[in-house]
Amino acid sequence: MSFSVPANLEAEIDELITHYPVKRSASLMLLHALQEHFGHISPEATQWVAKKLGLQPINVHELVTFYPMFRQSAPGKHQIKVCRTLSCALGGSHKLHEHFCTKLGLDPHAHGLQTTKDGKFSVEFVECLAGCGMAPVMMCNEDFFEGVSEKKADEILGGCK
Ligand code: FES
Repeated sequence: MSFSVPANLEAEIDELITHYPVKRSASLMLLHALQEHFGHISPEATQWVAKKLGLQPINVHELVTFYPMFRQSAPGKHQIKVCRTLSCALGGSHKLHEHFCTKLGLDPHAHGLQTTKDGKFSVEFVECLAGCGMAPVMMCNEDFFEGVSEKKADEILGGCK
């Protein structure tokens, strides 16, 4: 599979690298930029970043697999992210995640990114979304929701076109 980064994005990335005294220090920023553009970090993107920074692909792969904000497969059109950190875990986020997964025909016990067959929805657990006082907290794409009940979850799903 061919992989190419658009010229304007590569120019931005080249400029970004100049902000760091050591090229390698730009690794996370490059991964964020590519994920924002492509939706996930493919093995080809990992190799591209490694080459760009003069690293071995394993040096980049270990970042992609360590940080939960990086996705290795394409998310759905509507990305549901449920916080699983302490306040939300105590406030019912596991039940909320299970509710979404059951409604969408996904595995309620899988913590990683899952996408429906039609590509419309993806569900994943994420770490603290900085709304700890109003657990459970979640996001759907860029929209933020606090104190989400199962009824509210159904409304959020219903609002996704
Ligand atoms: S613990 Fe869920 S938002 Fe902070």
